[in-house]
Amino acid sequence: MNKNGDLSNLRKSYEKGLISDEFKSFSPFFIFKKWFEEAIKDTTILEPNAMILSTINNRQQPKSRVVLLKKFDLDGYTFFTNYNSDKGRSIVNNDNVCLNFYWASLEKQIIIKGKASKISENESNDYFNSRPLGSQIGAIVSNQSEIIESRDVLERKFNELNNYYSKIKPKKPANWGGYIVKPDLFEFWQGRKNRLHDRLEFKLDGNIWISHRLSP
Ligand SMILES: Cc1cc2nc3c(=O)[nH]c(=O)nc-3n(C[C@H](O)[C@H](O)[C@H](O)COP(=O)(O)O)c2cc1C
Repeated sequence: MNKNGDLSNLRKSYEKGLISDEFKSFSPFFIFKKWFEEAIKDTTILEPNAMILSTINNRQQPKSRVVLLKKFDLDGYTFFTNYNSDKGRSIVNNDNVCLNFYWASLEKQIIIKGKASKISENESNDYFNSRPLGSQIGAIVSNQSEIIESRDVLERKFNELNNYYSKIKPKKPANWGGYIVKPDLFEFWQGRKNRLHDRLEFKLDGNIWISHRLSP
């Protein structure tokens, strides 16, 4: 970087993989799983399940933030959060969301577009109960995305509840739980030489996934 903040010298050639035409006939869920397994095996990737979640609020403004993928199967992609948070309020307004995984060391990106909906209370309870006590209390203490007076207020509240819950088991707050994103589009991106990257898109047409190769 020069002193003007010019980043034009930051360049990298992508040469670690490819998407062959054979992939066009695969299920996008299968390709996701295959790539996710590669990301797990790569010990340089500290949180392979970290994904960017983008939502649109009631003023049609987009916002992106990182959340952790906690489950995936043919039904969709599940993460947990506070339903009253900024993202929760946006999803009430518009259930169309976008997920993005970028694994730099593999030169891979996966984009998933779909609709988000709440998972069942039972499933959210099961996951909440499996979390460490500190995370459970953290979820109870935090009115996520609300303005707070100070860090102190948060910590005092945490310490009070930490005492309280040393004797009884915390219950999941009603406003905390999972969302599942049911995909209607996948895009798999693999970096290639000379910026001629591979991009394979799968779009849901009724019940059928239609695949296309996209120009980089
Ligand atoms: C690595 C990482 C993992 C995160 N995982 C979650 C998560 O699983 N759920 C969550 O609600 N927030 C998670 N966050 C915090 C969110 O990025 C965000 O700050 C928070 O959800 C509030 O977002 P909102 O105000 O847009 O709703 C994570 C942040 C990072 C950097």
